Amino acid sequence: MSSASSHTPLLKLGLIALATSVSAGPPRSRPCAGPTNPGFESGTLEGWEVVSGDAFGSKSVTDVQSYWDGPFHQDQDFFVLGTAQAGESAVGELKSGSFQVGSVMSFLVSGGYDPDHLYVGLVRDSDGKVLLKQTGINDEAFLRITWDTSEWRGESVHIVIHDSSVSESWGHINFDDLRVGARAKTNGPGLTFNVLGQQVNQQPAGEESACKLFAEDQLRPQYHYTQYQGWINDPAGLIEWKGKHHLFSQYNPDAAVWGPMHWAHAESTDAVHWRELPVALYPAETDNENDESGAFTGSAFSDSKGMHLIYTNFTDTSAHPDAVQETVIMASSTDGIHFDLYGGNPVVPGPPEGAPAFFRDPKAFHDPTDDSLKMVIGATNNVDGQVRLYRASDTFSWSEVGIMYTGTDGNTGALWECPNFLPLGDKWVLFYGGLGLGWYEVGSFDGTTFTSEKRGLLDAGPASYAMQWYKDESGRDLAITWMGNWPTPKWPSRANGWAGQQSITRELFLREDGGLGQRPIVELDSLASGKTKNLGPKKIKDKTHHIGSENVARLKLTVDLGATTTASSFTLSLLESKAEATLLTYNTGNKTLTLDTTNAGYGQAGTWEAAIAPEADNKLTLDIFIDRSVLEIFAGDGTVFSATVFPRYQESTNINVVAEEGVVMLTDVSLTPLGSSWC
Ligand SMILES: *[C@@H]1O[C@H](CO)[C@@H](O)[C@H](O)[C@H]1NC(C)=O
Ligand SMILES: *[C@@H]1O[C@H](CO)[C@@H](O)[C@H](O)[C@H]1NC(C)=O
Repeated sequence: MSSASSHTPLLKLGLIALATSVSAGPPRSRPCAGPTNPGFESGTLEGWEVVSGDAFGSKSVTDVQSYWDGPFHQDQDFFVLGTAQAGESAVGELKSGSFQVGSVMSFLVSGGYDPDHLYVGLVRDSDGKVLLKQTGINDEAFLRITWDTSEWRGESVHIVIHDSSVSESWGHINFDDLRVGARAKTNGPGLTFNVLGQQVNQQPAGEESACKLFAEDQLRPQYHYTQYQGWINDPAGLIEWKGKHHLFSQYNPDAAVWGPMHWAHAESTDAVHWRELPVALYPAETDNENDESGAFTGSAFSDSKGMHLIYTNFTDTSAHPDAVQETVIMASSTDGIHFDLYGGNPVVPGPPEGAPAFFRDPKAFHDPTDDSLKMVIGATNNVDGQVRLYRASDTFSWSEVGIMYTGTDGNTGALWECPNFLPLGDKWVLFYGGLGLGWYEVGSFDGTTFTSEKRGLLDAGPASYAMQWYKDESGRDLAITWMGNWPTPKWPSRANGWAGQQSITRELFLREDGGLGQRPIVELDSLASGKTKNLGPKKIKDKTHHIGSENVARLKLTVDLGATTTASSFTLSLLESKAEATLLTYNTGNKTLTLDTTNAGYGQAGTWEAAIAPEADNKLTLDIFIDRSVLEIFAGDGTVFSATVFPRYQESTNINVVAEEGVVMLTDVSLTPLGSSWC
């Protein structure tokens, strides 16, 4: 601003401002201008400067609309695509012109997740200090990051787009639409951006701060278990022991991406309110930063010697060429908090002679057919998934029974992970992960082999994998599923430093049609916070009916599908604002329920449909858990849809129902605000 060459235009601006202020009263503060060409709508890098490298150049600016997984969601037409100039592995830095920073700014970012080598930085001109940084999320679709810059208000700054990643995979960063001042927060009236970014580098210290920090993060589920920072996947080691439920999670504390696996640990007296305990299991120490060895999924059981974890010791054979990739090892605890590795590990030294190396996720269970402790392990014959069965002769001594079950048609994948096996009613239920989906099979078991009679999907929605079952001390068959969009790139919460959540605790039952059903446990009632709004009975005809505006809530609905309901379909619109909504449509003709997240937010876009079996008296009941970014939808027949949605706007809290071509008779509608399970 002080350079001689800018004097003339500044003076001119000053005169215009003066002239305006004369006619319009006292001078108003000028709107924050931001740098030149803040969204590249000139179609060029005008106003920006290539500081170094060849990653950025004139070809970086593009108006391409979509990539392999959907739209980029850029602002207007043009943006900077980090691969367009020189590909994935090129490095370089691009710099904006200088501008005065206001109290808030926002921009769109996407591309690789690598906080050290790929970031958008806010740099102070006077000393070159990087004040704030934001990396990508391993997706090409843009997220809006909002920065509180009040600390530096009025200072002269610039933006850098930094790429020092030589990686051939997610080695680039994309950028668009820098906004400074009031426009940074909204997309016009009634559309306030959810605030993403800047949540990283804090850790809750105790329960009070956990409650506060979890509440401040606008994408963060309030009663679904998440790690404050880092990545979680499979729930593991589920057990109720001495009156406490234990939930372990596959965990990478160092980054919001999959990495060397630890076991995070939480306990609960009601399987609803979890309290964090110290990390239970660690990967082996290593000097090799590329070593992905770790403590993979497993299960828990207890006996007179204590509580035992039996799990997969995964060894990265690219770092340890002579090791067995997957063995079964154990760790035990007498206090439910501290775990000691068994001295005689491994308890199973690997897959049987000649079998493929893929051999994981031991799940222990009590087998009433011969009153023994057994476990199932996920395996493969390279064509079909397999389940191998083992039997314990004492706590630490396991021997193979044989192959319990093999897929026959490859339809559920060649590699089966996370098998669970349980008696339910007069049947046995096997469930497992294959092809990125959860599958169940219901059938019979003779103590050695399983015979399947019925197969189905565990979840009708997009965000469930690696579900684990456990029997609680009252004998209920409970389960928790990981909620993530494996294997898609939709992990927008990475911008806030975390990824992955666990479902609410569910109870398993056999459906009327012989399939496996799930329902929420009764203890979830304790999350109610505030008065339940009862809105039924209600006749809905054609027009939209507003039920309420809540995004941490439980919505229960009973529809009379008898003669009084004449509509061809009805749609519940959830997490709705004028810009986005998650739609749940029941079609009365073919009795299907469809979840539509095509325009729901930053999460996975798509539609998922399931047939819903009619209930007694021709009723349809829906029990819906809404938790900011997360939805769990239970139909009365036992069908469940799990989804992660991540709305873009703070106003996306509306719940509406609309009937198509006729009347829908709602006999009961209740909306209960729910509270945080951390407070
Ligand atoms: C896991 O397996 C590797 C390779 O065999 C071994 O070096 C390591 O000690 C094992 N870890 C544990 C905890 O037993
Ligand atoms: C059910 O009906 C809807 C609306 O006509 C249609 O889109 C959907 O494909 C149908 N589903 C099945 C399974 O028939």
